[in-house]
Amino acid sequence: MSDFEGLTALVTGGASGIGRATADLLAERGATVAVLDLDPSTVGEPLTGHRADVTDDASVRAAVAAAVDGLGGLDVLINNAGVGAQGTVEANSDEEWHRVFDVNVLGMVRTARACLPHLRASAHAAIVNTCSIAATAGLPQRALYSATKGAVHSLTLAMAADHVREGIRVNCVNPGTVDTPWIGRLLNAADDPAAERAALEARQPTGRLVSAAEVAGAIAYLASPLSGATTGTALAVDGGMQGLRPRPESR
Ligand SMILES: NC(=O)c1ccc[n+]([C@@H]2O[C@H](COP(=O)([O-])OP(=O)(O)OC[C@H]3O[C@@H](n4cnc5c(N)ncnc54)[C@H](O)[C@@H]3O)[C@@H](O)[C@H]2O)c1
Repeated sequence: MSDFEGLTALVTGGASGIGRATADLLAERGATVAVLDLDPSTVGEPLTGHRADVTDDASVRAAVAAAVDGLGGLDVLINNAGVGAQGTVEANSDEEWHRVFDVNVLGMVRTARACLPHLRASAHAAIVNTCSIAATAGLPQRALYSATKGAVHSLTLAMAADHVREGIRVNCVNPGTVDTPWIGRLLNAADDPAAERAALEARQPTGRLVSAAEVAGAIAYLASPLSGATTGTALAVDGGMQGLRPRPESR
């Protein structure tokens, strides 16, 4: 399929995990793709990498300007860079709350702000935000992370309303637990990584983790010009975790 032929895309957090799988898929489907990341050193042809920290407005503006210059315009923004946080509402300091909101929410705000003037010039403009099932289901030990993703969900709806008349669609994906380097780090830090992995797998009715490629497929669906009537939606990519209540298997 080459629905992105002739289009350009920018993927934040595109050097690893979901962002990298998305950048690769959009390129496979015909887009010219730039990646914005804290560490773009692993990004190579056909992608172009730009170093930026989404918590630093000047760095985001400079990287977006350089990326758009290289791409010759911008049709698609994938707002994906994010970090995790663990614990109940008592677990993290004010500084940590500010830091994680700064990356996960304000990072998307800064990038969208820098990209909107370019997206307005596109006939197929789309933004896809990487949200999470943590926005719509109560997960234990994820108070701070969930609060940031709830904000991303609301931001997606508000932006979709603000920009619909400008021809810019805004949607988000809500992944369950995805097998990325991030989850690898989380498992390595657990007391019993195998038991932790089994618990995460069992939480999803499919009985396995979501793959980064599966999330990339959903992001590409929302970003594609073929989805021109879809805006203001949150697409679950969670192995049924949000919507299904299967009975336990009989023993
Ligand atoms: N892995 C999961 O289970 C899962 C589930 C739901 C949602 N998500 C979301 O998916 C997104 C990507 O997660 P992933 O699992 O692919 O993680 P990952 O750690 O594999 O990749 C994240 C990328 O973001 C970059 N990044 C982090 N902070 C940045 C900053 N300040 N500026 C620029 N780049 C920065 C990192 O360098 C990295 O390349 C995040 O928004 C995360 O919240 C992940």
